[in-house]
Amino acid sequence: MDLKPKSVPIHLSEITSKKDYLSRRDFLKQMGIVTAGAALLAACGTSADEAPAPLATSNLPSDLETDSLSNELTEHESIISYNNYYEFTTDKERVAPLAKDFKSVPWTVEVSGLVNNPKTFNMDEILSQFTIEERIYRMRCVEAWSMVIPWSGFTLASLLEAVEPTPDAKYVRFETVNDPDQMPGMKNGLYPWPYQEGLRLDEALNDLTLLATGLYGEPLPSQNGAPIRLVVPWKYGFKSIKAIVKIELTAEQPSTLWETIAPNEYGFYANVNPDISHPRWSQASERRIGELKRRPTLPFNGYAAEVAHLYEGMNPAKLY
Ligand code: MTE
Repeated sequence: MDLKPKSVPIHLSEITSKKDYLSRRDFLKQMGIVTAGAALLAACGTSADEAPAPLATSNLPSDLETDSLSNELTEHESIISYNNYYEFTTDKERVAPLAKDFKSVPWTVEVSGLVNNPKTFNMDEILSQFTIEERIYRMRCVEAWSMVIPWSGFTLASLLEAVEPTPDAKYVRFETVNDPDQMPGMKNGLYPWPYQEGLRLDEALNDLTLLATGLYGEPLPSQNGAPIRLVVPWKYGFKSIKAIVKIELTAEQPSTLWETIAPNEYGFYANVNPDISHPRWSQASERRIGELKRRPTLPFNGYAAEVAHLYEGMNPAKLY
């Protein structure tokens, strides 16, 4: 689809529900309008270092009202009020109020390690350099609940291409901001902060792997990982690290926060697999937030066609 970027005067405060979001999308589609992040910023007469991340919805596919399996979107209110973000608290419903004043402007992401062009990007550069798309993904938490979330963001592959990994690079390591003054949960000393995650390079380069900067047509809310987080939809949600400040290409498999604490419960691969139980509960089914009946969990969270080939010949028990 070849749509010319234009700015549209939409007030973010107007976008409050699934209904509003879908009707706004219909409006944009009818008008043939897309908003590029930089264009909207320009329209607001401000720079990304002063303003929250812009509404960024370029390359709108034509039928993005459900996910690839025709699942309905989870309500906006649930996505922004039921969160896992241990740097704030382990209480899902208290994350949003505690993260309300989290300052994510200005922000930089350092991309370093085994690359030819190491670079520290500010959000302005990120939002103008990479193609922002909307993607609706299922998210399956290791705790056996799930949501369907409309993200906006860009492929991690496009960022990695820009820094050119060297032939020695085999893994990608991610790190969350280390800011106990803003994140009260970090002061409890129970976890080896900062939050760290990792992917194998081929997983990182897969087209599904996204760096999200928005959801539901809005800039990413603090409780969901503002201003930039990873989304890896075929893995349990804990791999999708929030508030990223560092991305490092490495030769060795990086250690991750959850694997460090409980390697038998939260492995490095963490691929969604209904046949391999967590040591303390089954992973065969899940509770979709907003639904009453549990639904079966799908291998690779329903993305086997896109990613199963990455693991050919590997022992499935090692991929949990
Ligand atoms: N990233 C950081 N930095 N800290 C966290 O506690 N929780 C993870 C993941 N990313 C977490 C994180 C877990 S367990 C899940 S299920 C998802 O974020 C939840 O994302 P959401 O709150 O946007 O639904």
